[in-house]
Amino acid sequence: AGNALWGGRFEAGPGEIMEEINASIDVDKRLARQDIAGSMAHVAMLAETGIVSHADAAAISAGLTTIAGEIEAGTFPFSRALEDIHMNIEARLKDLIGEPAGRLHTARSRNDQVATDFKLWVRDALDGLDGEMADLQRAFVTVAERHAATVMPGFTHLQSAQPVTFGHHCLAYVEMVARDRGRIADARRRMNESPLGAAALAGTAFPIDREMTAAALGFDGPMRNSLDAVSSRDFALEALAAAAIAATHLSRFAEELVIWCSAPFRFVTLSDAFTTGSSIMPQKKNPDAAELVRAKVGRIIGALTTLLVVMKGVPLAYSKDMQEDKPPLFDALPALSLCVRATAGMVRDLTVNEDAMRALASKGHTTATDLADWLVREVGLPFREAHHITGEAVLAAERAGKEIADLTLAELRAVDGRITEDALTVLTVDRSVASRTSLGGTAPERVRTEAQRWRALLDAT
Ligand code: ARG
Repeated sequence: AGNALWGGRFEAGPGEIMEEINASIDVDKRLARQDIAGSMAHVAMLAETGIVSHADAAAISAGLTTIAGEIEAGTFPFSRALEDIHMNIEARLKDLIGEPAGRLHTARSRNDQVATDFKLWVRDALDGLDGEMADLQRAFVTVAERHAATVMPGFTHLQSAQPVTFGHHCLAYVEMVARDRGRIADARRRMNESPLGAAALAGTAFPIDREMTAAALGFDGPMRNSLDAVSSRDFALEALAAAAIAATHLSRFAEELVIWCSAPFRFVTLSDAFTTGSSIMPQKKNPDAAELVRAKVGRIIGALTTLLVVMKGVPLAYSKDMQEDKPPLFDALPALSLCVRATAGMVRDLTVNEDAMRALASKGHTTATDLADWLVREVGLPFREAHHITGEAVLAAERAGKEIADLTLAELRAVDGRITEDALTVLTVDRSVASRTSLGGTAPERVRTEAQRWRALLDAT
């Protein structure tokens, strides 16, 4: 009545609830491709080292190929009773090829097997994300090139602060996504060592060749400690941490889109492809995709938290707790991928309402700093004094019910007699942004150069 794979020691099968809590097949069937790749590498090594015969290895490989086809075709008979993907595949192999199937698990445990499969899956997911994130950067760069000189209000505290260019704003995200890609690349580099051959926890007495299986699976080499190999999940945590940070960036941009396409702003219009209507209010066009990007970060951060908590109390080496490592990754990484692709789509389709941006850019005395800078530069005042005088000019403008840029020369000179006609020119938003030529500044010429630099970098990869 016991399990086909370990039945020897058991007199009865698991209880119904035990089967329900123990089975992971509904989740880890997603590792089928990786599990077969791992087994292929393992059996080739077993044959090469003479641990199994070449004939048995050939039968096993052929059986695994058949199984891969069945999984692909959706005809594979997944069974809950067989607990997980590893035992489902091994049991099927036995059905297909008989006795040699029992030799596949020589010098291997499900502990190193699952660590290997999971790493392969996470590695694939990270590779996919990198390409999608590069695509998102390209979308931002294209908008930045087009809007290098489009003036918008820059905010601090969501209060109008100084004019910036929309291109500059887009390039800020290109930088953030570049660091996100860097974190993902770091995680990938660090994780790319093979757990296979660590066996249950202590290594094996068989003369295995771990270098061989590591190379076959695209790893840089084998992990150096068998206990570490089967019980560490920091590779998954690191992937989730990188994902959570990346998702946070996307969420901030999503929040900006939601604000920008609201009626009081109207900075941008989202395409029909990324918005929805209302079932009752005919006029509505809602930024649902942006809102969902903003919301999904909750799941991604939650996934990181989940796995941190799962792992924090697990003594070395493997414990079944670690079976709970997969749902957070299977949820979070595809969710991030979707968010990246949705954001790239929204950026690509964006209609920028330059007039609305420009109109708001000069509201709120946004060029006051430029007058203070002028007083420093042309009159030679210390910045603090210039700041004070400009503050009085803002007050005068407020009293007159206008913007500082709309004060007449006479009105300005009433504040401070040292102000001349020349000062009026620095109060325009275009002059303001054009003057910000410092490295990393918002001046259109800077933005063009930076966009070009990014275009070249992204084209080179
Ligand atoms: N389904 C298990 C997991 O996902 C595979 C490893 C089981 N190992 C064990 N010793 N029970 O973690």
